[in-house]
This record gives sequence, structure tokens and C-alpha cells, in this order.
Amino acid sequence: MWRSIISFLFFSVALCQPFLFQKRSSNISDFISFNASLPNVTIFAMGGTIAGYASSSTETVDYAAGSVGIATLVDAVPAIKNFSNIRGVQVTNVGSEELTPANVLNLTQLILAEVAKPDVHGIVVTHGTDSLEETAMFLDMTVNTTKPIVVVGAMRPSTAISADGPMNLLNAVVVAASNRSIGRGTMILLNDRIGSAFYTTKTNGNMLDTFKSYEAGFLGMILDQRPHFFYSPATPTGKVHFDVSNTTELPAVEILYGYQGLNPNLAKAAVDLGAKGLVLAGMGAASWTDPGNEVIDGLISNQSIPVVYSHRTMDGFSDYYYNGIPSYFQNPQKARYMLMLSINAGYSIQNITDIFSLEY
Ligand code: SIN
Repeated sequence: MWRSIISFLFFSVALCQPFLFQKRSSNISDFISFNASLPNVTIFAMGGTIAGYASSSTETVDYAAGSVGIATLVDAVPAIKNFSNIRGVQVTNVGSEELTPANVLNLTQLILAEVAKPDVHGIVVTHGTDSLEETAMFLDMTVNTTKPIVVVGAMRPSTAISADGPMNLLNAVVVAASNRSIGRGTMILLNDRIGSAFYTTKTNGNMLDTFKSYEAGFLGMILDQRPHFFYSPATPTGKVHFDVSNTTELPAVEILYGYQGLNPNLAKAAVDLGAKGLVLAGMGAASWTDPGNEVIDGLISNQSIPVVYSHRTMDGFSDYYYNGIPSYFQNPQKARYMLMLSINAGYSIQNITDIFSLEY
């Protein structure tokens, strides 16, 4: 009884603090209804197609991503209140291609503060799918918590017939509110499947079943608002934690794409433009051309630029590559955040090599 009253007071105060006396707007939704027997989940909204708007219900291509506020998204799914009390926070409302490392750092710091609250059970992040895996990977490496963090998006805008966003959002809240989800790191949820942020990637620009984790497999699935996990909680091999609680700015790291006859000097140009590290999306398992490797070797030896060799192929393992750092299983966009966080932590090239090789 006393526990319920204290819990009610704590969460009510926490919920109301940022917008005390504000009327509910399209940007912010405080809890829909409070039920002390339900867990508390905070939704951080970033935009994307899940918040997309089109003038016709049949339009699924020509629409504006990041148009609808978090309150409207939550209102569209009344069943959420059967599973959780909700606090909604509109962080950004843009297509995810517009998000920057600064936005993702800000989101991390908001989530760090939120998971530190004893009565918050889990976190949901609504996000555009195009760069969703990058944010999810960053959160997985920077928010050290056993509380569930679920990153969710949609492939059809909120105005479409058969929009996938409402069901995805409901499922994400259910997963974030479930005790079964504790200790599983940051998860990606779309299309009823739950994947680890460490391994899941977007594989198709148009289809609903786009998020896949071919080699590592999914963590589980959700059926009838019940998460089913295939395994006990486990940590991906090579997952590292970086403390960004006091970070204000992240170092620039650029990705270069590999192809026949690539211009070797683009690597030098990227460094001249301010890159503190490079990731190569190499051919096959990370091949780079001989003239390209010569330039890369010079950047490593003469300018101490850490260079990670990753692969443009969707899956696979990059191991030994010249004087560079192999990305092992990490695709270029995830390896980029791992390298950025390593440089931010002040690690030497040898330290960074050791961090990546934890996956070996
Ligand atoms: C975006 O990433 O913001 C647009 C595409 C999507 O959410 O599916």
C-alpha cells in the first residue's frame, strides 16, 4: 500500500516536472492514466516515418517524415494504457537522415537520467528507420543499464492504410514494460521481431520486414502483446561500454566506400577536412585497393589516424587488414560509432584495436 502511494507520488512528480501547468500539446504527452500496478515507460520521440504524414491514406512513398507529435502517436494506440503508464518526450521530429551525433549524444544523456529514476521500468525511442540502427548501437554502447531500451520505427507513415507504426509502438511499449526484457541491452523492434541493436540492420528501403539479423538471429518475437525470447539474457561478444555522461562533443569520423578504381586520396581529403578517424566500407570482407592502402598506411603512420576496415557486404567478418583495425562483424555505420566513442575516450590506436578485437 505505502509502496504504491510512494510510487504514485514519485512518478506523478517526475512526470509533471518538465511541463507543470502546461496544457497537453501535440509535442508532449504526460501519462495517459496512472495505474500504480503498471510499470512506467518513457517514450523519447525522434521523428521518422512512424511520425510521418501524407495527404492521402494510400500514399506510402511521398510523405513527410517527422510530422506528427508524440501525443498523437500515443493517442492512436489506446491499448498502451493496459500495459504501462507513459511519459512522452519529443526530442526531435525529423527524418532520421537529419540526425547527427550531437542529437544522439543528447538522447543518450536524456535516457541516462531517465533510467536512473527508480520507478522507470523501461524506455522506448520512436525513430526513423533509415539511421535507426546507428542510434540503437550508440545507445547499446553508452547506456549501461539492465532496464529495457527499445528503439522502434515504421515503414508506413501514420496516415497510411495499414500503418505499421501503431502496432510497432504498442509492441515496443509492451517489451519495455516486461520483466522478460530486463538485461537484454538495447533492442530494435519492428514487424513483431525483437533484435539486438548490436547486430540488427536495415536491409530493404521499402518493405515492412526490413530489419534483419541474419547471422546472429533475432532475440525473440512478440505475439498477442506478449514478448517471447528465444534465449536467456546474454551480452553480445565484444560489446563495450563507453561513458559519455560528461561528453559535450564527439570527434568527427567519416566512412569511405570501396569500389573498383576508388580514388585513394579521398581518405586524405577526409582527414584534411577534420576527420579524426576513418571507417572503410571495403569490398567483400574489407578489401581496399593497393594504392588506397598506401594512402591509409601513411595516415596511420604519419598522422596517427585510426582506420577501421569494415565491409560493404551486409554480413560477414573482417579480420586481418594491413595496418588498420578490423571491424570484425560490425558494419561501417556501427563501426563508425564504436570508433567515434573510442577516440572520444582518448584511446590509442592499439587500445582501439584491442576493443574491436574483443569480437574476435
Ligand atoms: C526516416 O528514417 O526518418 C525516414 C524513413 C523511415 O522512417 O522509414
